[in-house]
Amino acid sequence: MPQDLQRILTLLNVDLAWEYAALVQYIQHASMLTGPQYVAVIDELLEHAQQEHEHAVILSDLIQYLGGIPTVDVAQRQTSLDNVEMLRQDLQLEYDAINRYLQRIKQLESLEMYDSAQKIRNIAVVEQEHAIDLEKALGVRKA
Ligand SMILES: [Fe+2]
Ligand SMILES: [Fe+2]
Repeated sequence: MPQDLQRILTLLNVDLAWEYAALVQYIQHASMLTGPQYVAVIDELLEHAQQEHEHAVILSDLIQYLGGIPTVDVAQRQTSLDNVEMLRQDLQLEYDAINRYLQRIKQLESLEMYDSAQKIRNIAVVEQEHAIDLEKALGVRKA
């Protein structure tokens, strides 16, 4: 296997471990968030969890398709007893995911693997939507 592809497979497995972490973290945070202002947010987090599950399946299948072995590792999860802190942790996870996926798109396209890059691009768009949801829930203002 070419070294470039080997490197990308290693990185895609890192991405997969972070998708598993996001799935677990969102389920736990949805259970732990409490307060009337968080009822809608809880539903949103559970929707995010479902989409992280979908991302994990897409990545696992992509890794296998490209000749690798999908990891069963789960990256670091974070939690807190504070509502806002949990949402901040979730937002950071999304920012990190977007950054990793933008790198991955570039790396895959540099190997002319445009089809695989497209799959990652689709995931990145959903992560951006997740980040927007969390920024709104947290009241982040950028201007
Ligand atoms: Fe995801
Ligand atoms: Fe996400």
